[in-house]
Amino acid sequence: MLSSKGFDLWADNYDRTVHLSDQDDSYPFAGYKQVLGRIYETIRAGEGRRVMDIGFGTAVLTARLYADGYTITGIDFSEKMIAIASEKMPAAVLIRHDFSNGLPASLDGQQFDSIVCTYAIHHLTDEAKIRFLTDLQRHLAPGGKILLGDVAFSTRQALEACKARSGPNWDDDEIYLVADELSAAFPELVFEQISHCAGFICIPAKK
Ligand SMILES: C[S@@+](CC[C@H](N)C(=O)[O-])C[C@H]1O[C@@H](n2cnc3c(N)ncnc32)[C@H](O)[C@@H]1O
Repeated sequence: MLSSKGFDLWADNYDRTVHLSDQDDSYPFAGYKQVLGRIYETIRAGEGRRVMDIGFGTAVLTARLYADGYTITGIDFSEKMIAIASEKMPAAVLIRHDFSNGLPASLDGQQFDSIVCTYAIHHLTDEAKIRFLTDLQRHLAPGGKILLGDVAFSTRQALEACKARSGPNWDDDEIYLVADELSAAFPELVFEQISHCAGFICIPAKK
């Protein structure tokens, strides 16, 4: 699992490595552009302009929304990623925080129309993911949505098949989303397979 320092070192090359993997249609980033595009279109089609991005990285997704006039709040633990993102989004609220400890206290009582997390939640165990997503759901405004884009599969069998295909490239430190397992905790969850390894998950606010 990469530390905040590991992400600092990756930050300058991040967009390039992601682009190459996406272009080659290879694990882990095959479908990256499409999955971020799917999230972008979902937010654009919805109501409300308050977006929180968990693990925003170089802000590939949120910088587009920022340019469209959305209000952006973000959490990331990498100083270097924050520096890159804040150049693109000078008025965004970017908080340096490790989300494996939950959300920062400064967000208590705040609500968002969309909460996005792309290629970052796989750093949490499956139990921690459920706790964290439950907490995120409490920060959704009525009608709001949690939108996840990551290496993700409908079933564990599909994950195992991708792991077998990826051979030595598979990263055993990352804990990917399996939609039918997560739906036990979030029955309203909607899943779409975007590429052979990327998936999109939408979890709506509780009614
Ligand atoms: C693979 S990058 C994804 C960046 C961006 N969301 C994207 O889709 O391109 C993962 C990001 O999550 C951040 N991150 C990973 N684990 C984290 C943690 N425990 N707390 C806060 N940020 C974390 C990293 O610093 C990095 O910016």
